[in-house]
Amino acid sequence: MTNEPEYRPGLEDVIAAKSAISFIDGKRARLEYRGIPVEVLAKESSYEETSWLLLKGTLPTQRQLADFDHDLRQRRKLHYRLKDLLRTMPATGHPMDALQAGVSAMGLFHPSRSVKDPAANWDATLRILASLPSLVAAFARIRRGDEILDPREDLDHAANFYYMTFGHEPTPAVRKVLDASFIVHAEHTMNASTFTARVTGSTLANPYAVISAAVGSLSGPLHGGANEEALAQFEAIGSAANVKPWLDGKLAADPKFKVMGLGHRVYKVKDPRANVVQELAEHVFAETSRPKNYETALELERVAAGIYGPKGVYPNVDFYSGVVYQALGIPTDVFTPIFAVGRAAGWLAHWNEQLVGNRIFRPEQIFTGTVDADYVPLEKRP
Ligand code: COA
Repeated sequence: MTNEPEYRPGLEDVIAAKSAISFIDGKRARLEYRGIPVEVLAKESSYEETSWLLLKGTLPTQRQLADFDHDLRQRRKLHYRLKDLLRTMPATGHPMDALQAGVSAMGLFHPSRSVKDPAANWDATLRILASLPSLVAAFARIRRGDEILDPREDLDHAANFYYMTFGHEPTPAVRKVLDASFIVHAEHTMNASTFTARVTGSTLANPYAVISAAVGSLSGPLHGGANEEALAQFEAIGSAANVKPWLDGKLAADPKFKVMGLGHRVYKVKDPRANVVQELAEHVFAETSRPKNYETALELERVAAGIYGPKGVYPNVDFYSGVVYQALGIPTDVFTPIFAVGRAAGWLAHWNEQLVGNRIFRPEQIFTGTVDADYVPLEKRP
């Protein structure tokens, strides 16, 4: 019998924090924000209201929501030098890198050496929530050779983001899809980027550094980047008819082949957010037409269920979201930034929660190297 703590790769099942923000039951496909199911929020709420719920713990009163909404609208505009900074970035770079650099740079415009002032923290929370869509939209336009647009105070969060990206207002259906998409991506317990936010926050780093770190974490293909990869995969498959031969071929080459957009550390059934996104997709496709990639995705879900279902591997949120964004005309590499725009509310809620009774994260390791090695002077080495 040994007292040595157990090493769990990927920290699976390791408790990293106590949190009252969201709850997942991975066997019953339940995701709740402050007790309210995400499906209900996607249908009934708005991203602004959901953000308040996540940040403050309860639904806002009418007055609170109106003030919050007003405060966000006031903080959307990017500093002109921040826009200059975005313009100097290589247009061929990935928008997630631009977003990470952009939000980090905001810390230069709003420097703070302390996170002990709740009023200043709330102001930063509002500014980050309001500015992230502006950063994403600005870089998307720069890459197309278009002028950056100023935000519109008469539009809500989702509609303004769409307007700042495309230069015209979304239809009501498209606005609803974007708003609901921000809601379903807003929070998801102790995922990699949220954990990153909490770890960075625990050092009392400024909130821009916290969110920048989280954006970097979200950018990887095993996390937020999976929606891009999922879409690329549907395109590579080409058609619903080619799903089975494609998957058979992949599995013959590698029996451990991973289908993008499937599987989740916590969900062992279909991710409830995938159902919401799929429902939204049907709304979008009523305005456009059912794209080939959607038919391919449906067939891949069906075929994959027979193969991976027994392992509890089913579609996650990224499986269908790329297909929806593509139908909205959103460039592929802006998919993950949209995820980040939505997730900002969750990251900020966790940052605020972490600061209450904060203790810096400092886990242990199992040392596998050598000890007491000799230093051999360079001239004596080959
Ligand atoms: N396709 C096929 N099999 C998969 C799979 C996928 N997408 N995801 C997991 N599996 C299988 C693994 O091969 C493994 O099988 P085994 O027990 O026979 O070895 C088992 O399911 C457990 O997978 P594992 O990679 O250990 O799970 P994890 O909890 O460490 O990883 C993810 C979770 C999300 C990283 C993983 O499912 C994945 O890489 N999915 C694809 C990327 C993706 O969609 N990410 C977005 C997440 S929201």
